[in-house]
Amino acid sequence: MRDEQPVNLYESGKMAEITGETLRPGGFSLTDIGVQYCLLSPGDTVLDLGCGLGATVNYLYHKYNISAFGIDPSEKMIAAAKHKYEYADFFLGYGEQLPFDNGSFDGVFAECTLSLMENLDSVIQQVFRVLKENGWFIISDIYARNPKAAAELHKYPADNCIRGMHHLKQLRGSLVRAGFSVVHTADFSQYLKELIVNITFSSDTPCEFWNTADGSCTGGDDYYQAIKRCKPGYFLMIAKKKGDAYGR
Ligand SMILES: C[S@@+](CC[C@H](N)C(=O)[O-])C[C@H]1O[C@@H](n2cnc3c(N)ncnc32)[C@H](O)[C@@H]1O
Repeated sequence: MRDEQPVNLYESGKMAEITGETLRPGGFSLTDIGVQYCLLSPGDTVLDLGCGLGATVNYLYHKYNISAFGIDPSEKMIAAAKHKYEYADFFLGYGEQLPFDNGSFDGVFAECTLSLMENLDSVIQQVFRVLKENGWFIISDIYARNPKAAAELHKYPADNCIRGMHHLKQLRGSLVRAGFSVVHTADFSQYLKELIVNITFSSDTPCEFWNTADGSCTGGDDYYQAIKRCKPGYFLMIAKKKGDAYGR
């Protein structure tokens, strides 16, 4: 029986059954590449935007001695993160309105989360604001290799990363308009494929997984065909705050 409260894919716990605590394709692989590319070092301060269950915050601290903060609008996820990693700092809040001072962080990670945010331009401006000069914005997420087909996904009720898959050219444009230099982009679609295979084998039909998770498969086969036309892939993009448009 489905819960009375609307649930989303991440709060339902179904995604964690497949991916473990990192609710994204590729686990920590792209986190590691981001840390190494940006030469993030012990003592640096990092924000994990859309931190979910807090796994990256804990990983950055224990593997790299980086002091990481997490923020997420889900009370359920933040409560779970605080309970599991009592030593760390987690905040309830949205990327569109970050409760941090200008120039607070050496890096901001957004791992499979920007695609869920309605107002991407204001999130990017907020990230620019809270980064120090020469700070790094490390984004990994789903993108449409055929972006022309992506608008069609908005007619389905799903509340997950697939619905908001990125158009890379537009994302680059938004970052540059906000004052970032985009310094690295790479394709990691194999991680998305692995996750899709794991989802497929976890249920009798893919629709069964999505319907127990968040009820999003109401479009049935039409929904899958619409997703397929977008040719979904997964990417890592790294941007650097080059100047300060906020006049500090
Ligand atoms: C796919 S999960 C990824 C969680 C985490 N980054 C990870 O990889 O394990 C997406 C997360 O984005 C969060 N989210 C959704 N909208 C957001 C917003 N406007 N600002 C910040 N986080 C948001 C969700 O609550 C969810 O925890």
